[in-house]
Amino acid sequence: AATCVSNATAFEPNYDESKIAPYKLPDPLVMEDGSAVTTPGRWENQRRAELLELFRKHVYGFSPEPCQIRSERVSEKQVLDGKATRSEVDVFFGSGDDAASMRLLIYVPTSADGPVPAFLGLNFQGNHSIDSDPSIQLNPGWFRNRGETTDGNRTTEAARGVAADRWPVDLIVSRGYGLVTIYYGDIDPDFDDGFNNGIHGALGDSLTGVEDESRWGSIAAWAYGLSRALDYLQSDQCPSIDGDRVAVIGHSRLGKTSLWAGASDPRFAMVISNDSGCGGAALSRRAIGETVGRINTSFPHWFNDKFNEYNENESALPVDQHELLALIAPRPLYVASATEDRWADPKGEFLSAVHADPVYRLLDTDGMGSDAAPEQMPSPDQPINEGVIGYHLRTGKHDLTEYDWRQYLEFADRHLRSSRPR
Ligand code: GCU
Repeated sequence: AATCVSNATAFEPNYDESKIAPYKLPDPLVMEDGSAVTTPGRWENQRRAELLELFRKHVYGFSPEPCQIRSERVSEKQVLDGKATRSEVDVFFGSGDDAASMRLLIYVPTSADGPVPAFLGLNFQGNHSIDSDPSIQLNPGWFRNRGETTDGNRTTEAARGVAADRWPVDLIVSRGYGLVTIYYGDIDPDFDDGFNNGIHGALGDSLTGVEDESRWGSIAAWAYGLSRALDYLQSDQCPSIDGDRVAVIGHSRLGKTSLWAGASDPRFAMVISNDSGCGGAALSRRAIGETVGRINTSFPHWFNDKFNEYNENESALPVDQHELLALIAPRPLYVASATEDRWADPKGEFLSAVHADPVYRLLDTDGMGSDAAPEQMPSPDQPINEGVIGYHLRTGKHDLTEYDWRQYLEFADRHLRSSRPR
């Protein structure tokens, strides 16, 4: 994981629960005009749209309408002793010859006797960091500097396979799932340039009638890329993956991204947030660890400009992050935290799931399972996974580990195993 940048002014995070200022969370089941949402229909037709609009306006920003995509297969190879077919596919944002593109790295189990469910997630260090095979092309784009894996914001040979731990391809494929990953910088390079580079630059002109302060930030751009990847996975060009059974997954800033992708695009069949923290699953009003003010200072390009109005002023936000989780209802959602990841506020991530539970129940699911949402955080390494909202607190650091993946695979086995009619 990236560390925080050093150009921010001194910031002492609070980790003391007793110092949290009293706060009241907005109720996802109360409309802005104060009326109650008591039926699934009212949620689907009115409140859900209202909340999405609020998150667009105040937090992530409005994105352009979906562009046309086209795709080009770049390579195909049998890997893992013949257990999987690995391919590289370029997906273009637009039909023109010079359209911007992102490269999908796709693994599909060869034993499958039909389209498989799959995990789709962005990666931090390039597709070549997933697997050390030198036939995967080194990504030519911009990289945040990170030790010997980069040189002057370009990736190096030393990056090959460095993120293999986070992407247990063999395990995923052996369990019958496909895996699709994309370097997030293909969609939008992760630095502040006033929202001009990446697809902001390429597609920005098509976004009209939106106040400057509410235009899409980088998280929204990355999520837009995930939706276009899903367009491809659902197309005839990709018969080996069942596009109706795609789980979107992400770690940290890319967990914030998977949540926004899942909230804004209901075609994602399952959503996984791994250690997503502030601006992801964690409740903003707790202001434990990383705060809205801090994240907007360190990473001014992640959210829209309007989100700055809530720096040290979280209670003025018309939404909080449990409502982001609620936008995913009734689809399966898994939120995970790690004990040593205090910066991301594990308790705030857990409480967010708890407060999304009433929406899941209104929509006729069992939410976090049993009769009511749990009152206590579970002990480390004791997943809550009986219902349609899963949660675990893993022992250890801010990371995406095999333990995390095993929980997601088990959860996917419950919810994505059988194909659903389209
Ligand atoms: C920083 C940032 C977090 C983010 C993390 C990451 O720590 O403050 O909000 O989740 O980077 O993406 O690794």
